[in-house]
Amino acid sequence: MKIAIDGPGGAGKSTVAKRLADELGMTYIDTGAMYRAVALAVHRRGLSTGDADAVRGLLGFIRLGIAHEAATGRQLIYLNGEDVSDAIRTPQISLGASDVSKIPEVRLAMVELQRGIASGADVVMDGRDIGTFVFPDASRKYFLTASPETRARRRFLELTAKGQSVTFEQCLSELLVRDENDSNRAFAPLKAADDALLVETDDMTEDEVVAALRADLLNLGLCGAGP
Ligand code: DC
Repeated sequence: MKIAIDGPGGAGKSTVAKRLADELGMTYIDTGAMYRAVALAVHRRGLSTGDADAVRGLLGFIRLGIAHEAATGRQLIYLNGEDVSDAIRTPQISLGASDVSKIPEVRLAMVELQRGIASGADVVMDGRDIGTFVFPDASRKYFLTASPETRARRRFLELTAKGQSVTFEQCLSELLVRDENDSNRAFAPLKAADDALLVETDDMTEDEVVAALRADLLNLGLCGAGP
């Protein structure tokens, strides 16, 4: 079974996808982490994420791996053998990931990796193009969204809780730049699949979103009522 959860940054996809996967005994795959790791590799080489030729040239030297922490189910991401799960969570890398994700060669390499990891497994995968491009035949597709202000507030709270020094305005402007980039790129842009269930999460708690998705899956006969 494949469950696709797409939507813009800060819509709550990753927390919801992870919790849903845990509850259903499925594997959670965060595809944004892969684009972030590519951006980190580009930065570390002193290159610009906006320089498509340079990024394409580096792609062959980037080896990504993912694993799941046994105790928590949290996804870890490795860049050439190094665990970079925390290093990729900065505003600079968010913007860089959005830049590199415009490059078709980068996307095709990431999509191949994503399909490989998911093959033969039951997965809840979150991203921007899962329902439209990676798994157009997914068992169920969701598109989570919220206003830019709600998403920026969530992102601000998340980053400050981790001790990062950012302002609400920085979070908002970064999300708006990424929305624009991600929605308007030519290849596999951020877009709700025609058959996705749209979930507006502004006035919903995380628990309510998870419960709504579970109720929908139960209704479709795709999961049981149990814990
Ligand atoms: O989900 P995230 O915020 O970690 O994603 C970071 C960037 O990666 C996002 O702005 C666009 C890109 N991305 C993508 O293009 N396709 C995906 N499936 C996941 C992320």
